[in-house]
Amino acid sequence: PVGERYEAETAPAVCQGTIDSNHTGYSGSGFCNGDNAVGAYAQVTVTPEAAGTATLGIRFANGATGARPANLVVNGTTVATVSFEPTGAWTTWSTKTVTVPLNADGNTVRLDPTGSAGLPNIDYVDV
Ligand code: GCU
Ligand code: CA
Repeated sequence: PVGERYEAETAPAVCQGTIDSNHTGYSGSGFCNGDNAVGAYAQVTVTPEAAGTATLGIRFANGATGARPANLVVNGTTVATVSFEPTGAWTTWSTKTVTVPLNADGNTVRLDPTGSAGLPNIDYVDV
């Protein structure tokens, strides 16, 4: 439903990397530390229960010095790009909001990094 939180570490989420818990401040039991590579993605499957436009809140930390841009791919279609600027520390978490089209059920929401550093650490996606 809308109002739901989809943790990056909770199945059926996919993390092309490791689920880590070494940087505090995350929600749930950890976060997705994606491999540092183009295309090393994090994905959640969201079920808003009504089709339409929804605002996603993507919580992330980027303790590196450069932005970690990613395509936001919903049900296989790139609907936005997100820049994921540095947050200053791996323990400093921030949320990006993006408005996307969703079906009622079973939407794959994938963050597909376009740079060789890969994604920032990803905590969850709120719908
Ligand atoms: C460090 C940090 C990781 C992070 C990685 C990165 O290793 O501890 O949590 O994912 O940098 O640069 O992606
Ligand atoms: Ca990483």
